[in-house]
Amino acid sequence: MGPLKTDDYDLEAIARQFGTPLFIFSGDAIRERVDEFRDAFGAEWPRFELMPSLKACPILGIRALLSELDCGCDVFGPGEFEGALRANVPPSRISLNGSIKDEVIIRKAIALGVRIVIDSPREASLINDIAGELHTTARVMLRLKPEMGELSATSDFAPDLLISELSQRIKYGIPNSELAEIVGSWPSYPHLQLVGFHSHIGRHSKQLDVWSTWAAVVASKVIELEPLLAGIDHPVINIGGGFASVLDADLDVVDRSGKTPSLSEFAAVICGALRQALADSTTPWSDWILEIEPGRGLHSDTGVHLTTVKNLKNETAGEHRRWAEVDTSEVFLDLHGVPDECPLEFTSVSSGESPDCIYDVVGLTCNAEMLSLDAKLPELSVGDVLAIYPTGAYLEPMAANFNALPRPGSVLLDQGSARLVKRHETVDDVFARDIIR
Ligand SMILES: Cc1ncc(COP(=O)(O)O)c(C=O)c1O
Repeated sequence: MGPLKTDDYDLEAIARQFGTPLFIFSGDAIRERVDEFRDAFGAEWPRFELMPSLKACPILGIRALLSELDCGCDVFGPGEFEGALRANVPPSRISLNGSIKDEVIIRKAIALGVRIVIDSPREASLINDIAGELHTTARVMLRLKPEMGELSATSDFAPDLLISELSQRIKYGIPNSELAEIVGSWPSYPHLQLVGFHSHIGRHSKQLDVWSTWAAVVASKVIELEPLLAGIDHPVINIGGGFASVLDADLDVVDRSGKTPSLSEFAAVICGALRQALADSTTPWSDWILEIEPGRGLHSDTGVHLTTVKNLKNETAGEHRRWAEVDTSEVFLDLHGVPDECPLEFTSVSSGESPDCIYDVVGLTCNAEMLSLDAKLPELSVGDVLAIYPTGAYLEPMAANFNALPRPGSVLLDQGSARLVKRHETVDDVFARDIIR
């Protein structure tokens, strides 16, 4: 199963012990991926910080492992902010993102010394006012959306659309005209301490020339805005996430063709373009702190999903067909409709036989639930456990309760032991918010 390190674990026994459907996360693979990011970017940039994005894997036991590994944390909105605090991320290592931050979250962030990424002029003045009331200054960054000029590359999310257009159309980041307003009003924000700049292109492309163009336009915008930094020794450039995972099985990405560059390739191209553009900076490039916020690139290949075969059906009249009905669902795996080709790999962990049979693997709900059509598997029996891989990023937090299904629990495999890090939801949980009268 790709880079996932599960050889030391008996996945079938784990499925029986904890119950399926079940998300499994490999602590050993997460440790390895963290080291790979640090080695690749650290070789190119002396002051480098890894700030994994909590949204991709908001399971607190896993985030606590990332805290042990000394990672900072990108959070979006009040829920993730609270999650990061509960998972022992030191407030000074949290970067608070989000496109609509209200007074409550801003007040809490300032009181705890959390850095806030400004997304609009409204937020700039709200943060300044609240910091003033609290007789303090707020550490802030400006979230930029630099124009990408004539770049003709299209987005892997929407192959008919240009990245240069989509990156402007997308809601997040300060619109360039409003950024000019903020710059004009900066002297009237005495309670804001600008510590750096943020920009996130997202997983639009695996092409390295797209990344170098983007890094260059971010850095030129940063240079324009550098005078606002006033006296910071080590300002921050945070270039967000968007690195494809090695296996690139992300279901929201339409075009997954082409090989994912290695992290060293990403790092060389991005850092090279930043260094070149920062040659004009008044702060030497090596004094800048470079932060990245990988989500899928860090987590995707570190997780697998386990499900049990509950029933087998066979059609022998006309075209022969076999179905393996399993106890998971498309609503836990972000698979919908009739898939052309399922990017997730289905294997049996109960049988060592060769995969000589063809099954449609179908899930639990009243939808078509075509999880994988024509999957090659060994002869199956009811009770067999299947592994679905890779499922480490975004699937667990996107799982839904369609048909009143309780969502799966999660287990962390780490250094030889298997530990529940999120219990299975119950039907009581599913209806806990309902009010009949
Ligand atoms: C600000 C920010 N940082 C990081 C990420 C993580 O992106 P990815 O999972 O593509 O690496 C996102 C994703 O939406 C984001 O908005």
